[in-house]
Amino acid sequence: MKKLLLFTCGLIFLVACKKTAKTYTTDETKRGLIVENAMVVSAREEASKIGTEILKKGGNAFDAMAATELALAVAYPYAGNLGGGGFMVYRTSNGEIGALDFREKAPLAATKNMYLDSLGKVIPDKSTLGAMAVGVPGSVAGVFATHEKFGSLPIEDIIQPVIDLAYKGIVITKKQEERIKKHQESFLKANKNPILFDSIWKAKDTIKYPALAKTLERILKNGKDEFYKGETAQRLVNFMQDNGGIITMEDLNRYEAKWRTPVTFEYDDLKIISMAPPSSGGICLAQILKMIEPYDLQEYGHNSVKAIQVITEAERRAYADRSFYLGDPDFVNVPGDELISKNYSYDRMSNFSFEKATLSSEVSHGKVDVIESNETTHFSIVDSFGNSVSVTTTLNGAFGSKLYCSDLGFFLNNEMDDFSSKPGVPNMFGLIGAEANSIVPEKRMLSSMTPTIVEKDGKLLMSVGTPGGSTIITSVLQTILNVHEYKMTMQQAVDAPRFHHQWLPDEIKMEPNSFDKELIYQLEALGYKINEEDAPVIGKVDGVLVLPNGKLEGGADRRGDDTAVGY
Ligand code: DON
Repeated sequence: MKKLLLFTCGLIFLVACKKTAKTYTTDETKRGLIVENAMVVSAREEASKIGTEILKKGGNAFDAMAATELALAVAYPYAGNLGGGGFMVYRTSNGEIGALDFREKAPLAATKNMYLDSLGKVIPDKSTLGAMAVGVPGSVAGVFATHEKFGSLPIEDIIQPVIDLAYKGIVITKKQEERIKKHQESFLKANKNPILFDSIWKAKDTIKYPALAKTLERILKNGKDEFYKGETAQRLVNFMQDNGGIITMEDLNRYEAKWRTPVTFEYDDLKIISMAPPSSGGICLAQILKMIEPYDLQEYGHNSVKAIQVITEAERRAYADRSFYLGDPDFVNVPGDELISKNYSYDRMSNFSFEKATLSSEVSHGKVDVIESNETTHFSIVDSFGNSVSVTTTLNGAFGSKLYCSDLGFFLNNEMDDFSSKPGVPNMFGLIGAEANSIVPEKRMLSSMTPTIVEKDGKLLMSVGTPGGSTIITSVLQTILNVHEYKMTMQQAVDAPRFHHQWLPDEIKMEPNSFDKELIYQLEALGYKINEEDAPVIGKVDGVLVLPNGKLEGGADRRGDDTAVGY
């Protein structure tokens, strides 16, 4: 009798779950671009094309990385950059893996309390707008480090097409028109003199970058040192100081991109390779996946109440740990292995129940011995030799600090806001930090960027990543789950509606009009606060999937102008 009752209850529950489980699309034929050999997926067609031309010429994924990274500075100044930084995770054709950290760092003159007033309060805008917000840029060092170690084509072949693009100009899309308009007030606040982006730019206009082209010409001629020691460095420092900034020649001279060991872990039969600190991405992704591994997500159904509960609760716990433990490993001790261990994950979920939401106020960091924001940009590349790279690069906010160096033709980042200006006070992504992420000269600020590569059966399966500030980690997570657990195509996986929880604020952000009302009511009844207002889009994922027949499928996010190009 008891068994019968249990069976009946179970059946009712399953039916209820089925009803609310909403699959984004049932159209199994909805595939992204499929090609035989090689592919680049990025935020702009021009950048993907430049990368693909390099691959067609016989260049490898690393040559294409260098070209695409620089081309995004021209085609997508919203986030693509010379004045910012980023991370790359790679896997070569013979299975060798690694990671490159070209994250910005704090200037030598930075101090722990530089964003606080005399009363200890955070000074509004100081870490986000204008010269004081700028970290020492790393992208040019990242491009050269990649090319020096792995590149196969001469640097001229890589940079010249980007210079040509900068002179020829970019045709503005509707989305770019809107973004420029939206930020023009801030451009006026951050810049003493008029800048290129103050003009009224409309979709289909062509915007040309002669100053940037000239900067790139000098970099082509003199190499990385041009940006960090040469004439460009001196002009950048003069500009920064003229605008009240603290970056000096010594800061630029001392900047180095660093090779890091990526975070690797298993989930089911997948091996996941992701970014190590100073990004929180890999560790946080590992923690969440480890916490949800024991649960049967497939049975619960995609974006069903139960699946959302399990994922949310794992995210809540992982982000609480992020806030406390993670920072630049060259300055603080990050207990990475412990945080991603099976025992720790199991223990962390022991107080989770399907009956009721856990309250974030009752969750702190565990014990072991971070909106609509897509201002970063990600690209994924797979070449015909089987090498793959996954690169996320950023100015932090939209157009970074909004400070535009007209002389050199690029925006400067506002990455200093990724430090914890004051323990417990949220940054622009609502992320709260602690001592581990406090400001120290030359330290790298904690990131959420999660460039990731996935292997299955020892072979490359996917290269994936996204912008989105604190939502980066959870967007990468859901894309991997969509392919692995829910058998979606790469394009479906990228397009599917997303949700996000980051411990504090204690709410599930959901993309509006993407989830059933009934599902939302059910989650609310269980104690979850749902916010459909602050995040019109969550993430803007670009990825490449290797199909069982060896062909490549691109997933270029419908949320942007993102485009897959290949051959
Ligand atoms: O490194 C980070 O985590 C942030 N600076 C990324 C910023 C970002 O993704 C902006 N777009 N939302």
